[in-house]
Amino acid sequence: MRFVKHYKNSDTQWGWTSILLHWLLAVAIIGLFALGLYMTDLSYYDSFYTLGPQIHEAIGILVLVFMVYRLIWRLLNKTPKPPEKNSPFINTASQIAHKALYLICFVILLSGLLISYAGGQGIQIFEWFRIPGPQDLFENQASYAGEVHYYSAFALIGLVILHTLAALKHHFVDKDNTLKNMLGLKEKP
Ligand code: HEM
Repeated sequence: MRFVKHYKNSDTQWGWTSILLHWLLAVAIIGLFALGLYMTDLSYYDSFYTLGPQIHEAIGILVLVFMVYRLIWRLLNKTPKPPEKNSPFINTASQIAHKALYLICFVILLSGLLISYAGGQGIQIFEWFRIPGPQDLFENQASYAGEVHYYSAFALIGLVILHTLAALKHHFVDKDNTLKNMLGLKEKP
């Protein structure tokens, strides 16, 4: 077993760029979900009441920037061919699931922006700087965007659980290279 060396994807391997973006964003997205859930339980008198949302917003913006980069990288690059043993149904299901993961991530990120921009104050990043934003685009923006943000976050986590189970099935049941490939591990030729 050795590590993948190329930063670009090939017909058989994910490159380092896709691998790093996948795992970095997976950790950040799951962390944002946990923090978001924790924040919904905080009361005004909790010490984390102000800091929690500030951290959530700052990481959310970084995730948005990296997700845009990842999407562009994905569109400009090859993707490894699926294992030969996969049925056409599994290949189609996995393509749809991957597209849905991107789509729901962007729905969550953009609805999050709309929540933060509501009121027209822009987004304050700690005490450092403010990212200016537009005035409200529609009535009750924070409340509608908040509903979309909340329910799509649960939809994403549901899909991530299925996605993880599929990856584990490939590894432990089908015993193919799908998970090792996304971990940057390469079989010796
Ligand atoms: C928030 C969490 C996650 C998200 C949003 C996510 C998203 C994605 C997406 C969009 C792809 C398609 C390739 C790409 O464009 O990068 C992918 C591939 C993959 N993911 Fe995840 N992922 C997450 C977590 C996980 C976890 C926890 C595992 C396994 C333990 C995993 C295993 C894989 C594997 C093995 C592939 C390659 C699939 C293939 O080659 O067909 N992912 N993931």
